[in-house]
Amino acid sequence: MGAQVYAQKFEQIARTPQLGWNSWNTFGCNVNEKMIREMADAMVSSGMKDAGYEYINIDDCWHGERDKNGFIQADKKHFPSGMKALADYVHAKGLKLGIYSDAGNTTCAGRPGSRGHEYQDALTYASWGIDYVKYDWCDTKDINPVSAYSTMRDAIYKAGRPMLFSICEWGDNKPWDWAKDVGHSWRTTGDIYPCWNCEHNHGSWSSWGVLPILDKQTGLRKFAGPGHWNDMDMMEVGNGMTADEDRAHFSLWAMMASPLIAGNDLRNMSDATKQLLTHKDTLAINQDKLGIQAMKWIDEGAIEIFIKPLEKGDYAVLFLNRDDVARDYSLDWNFHYMKDDISKHEIFFDKKRFNWRDIWTGEKGTTGSQYTTRIPAHGVVVLRLSPQ
Ligand code: GAL
Repeated sequence: MGAQVYAQKFEQIARTPQLGWNSWNTFGCNVNEKMIREMADAMVSSGMKDAGYEYINIDDCWHGERDKNGFIQADKKHFPSGMKALADYVHAKGLKLGIYSDAGNTTCAGRPGSRGHEYQDALTYASWGIDYVKYDWCDTKDINPVSAYSTMRDAIYKAGRPMLFSICEWGDNKPWDWAKDVGHSWRTTGDIYPCWNCEHNHGSWSSWGVLPILDKQTGLRKFAGPGHWNDMDMMEVGNGMTADEDRAHFSLWAMMASPLIAGNDLRNMSDATKQLLTHKDTLAINQDKLGIQAMKWIDEGAIEIFIKPLEKGDYAVLFLNRDDVARDYSLDWNFHYMKDDISKHEIFFDKKRFNWRDIWTGEKGTTGSQYTTRIPAHGVVVLRLSPQ
């Protein structure tokens, strides 16, 4: 019975997908307290905090050794003031601090993992004031994923401090089938790579561009909802793709109700990147209270149309151009019907009229007449529909 008592996660967290920043995509193992503090400063000064971003997450490589009693310590060289002081700094900015560990003996970068130390580690994180735990899956050999992640979930709950629990086992063990009551989000794929449609081969594993990650979400939308999200991985916005690709990437992640975790250097981002990451209408689509992941509504090969039911009868409609050239596209709403068996939404466009607004250009119209647009190569057009 004992184990049952704590078999819970903190339910009040991540009722909408978490918004934040993570060190890995830009810095890899080069993390230190000065950089993390500067990132918290930049999250405030860039307007990201005001736009809703909340978490500053340190990924792999913050770890030092375990002490003689097995308690984990931060790397003394790179985090000389310690994690508690860093959490205090981040909290004083009105933000939250996240940390990273691994279900195995060692993390992916070879630092101490939490295997056999789960309760001790959760207690340590709670005592430091940590708010978010990303939990990876390297060096796990024969470990059962459901029990490994449930053990850490129980350890966090027992430690008593609400911490968002972010499952990162790359979708290998179908976490959507078992993780709803275990974590607040689960990675659905291997790592992201800043490219449109590539597979980046690392030998024994691959990382993936925007389109391959999008395509791997097929069939998963029914598993997501408030408090338990499909995580499409940390974003590569501002990390080298074109402006149109970045906008498509950000808009798609928002539509899919994925956590939006920036992965660029917030201290020196371009105005374009800042504008994208703080784009209110896109964030509102992601943060909509219904928490319904978009569905692919129309698939015409190069052009795909996604639709996301929103509060108050609104819908977000995203036109994606996967192609390498710009494409003109026309949609006669009147001849279309939308039925979502999962969220139980249905629209007869010939009977029900909407006003639409292009959330980037501000252009307006109604679904009473044919809609024509030009979608840039590797780009999107996003409309918000409101009932008339
Ligand atoms: C991977 C994980 C990445 C990053 C990295 C750190 O397994 O998917 O997001 O955390 O480990 O070593």
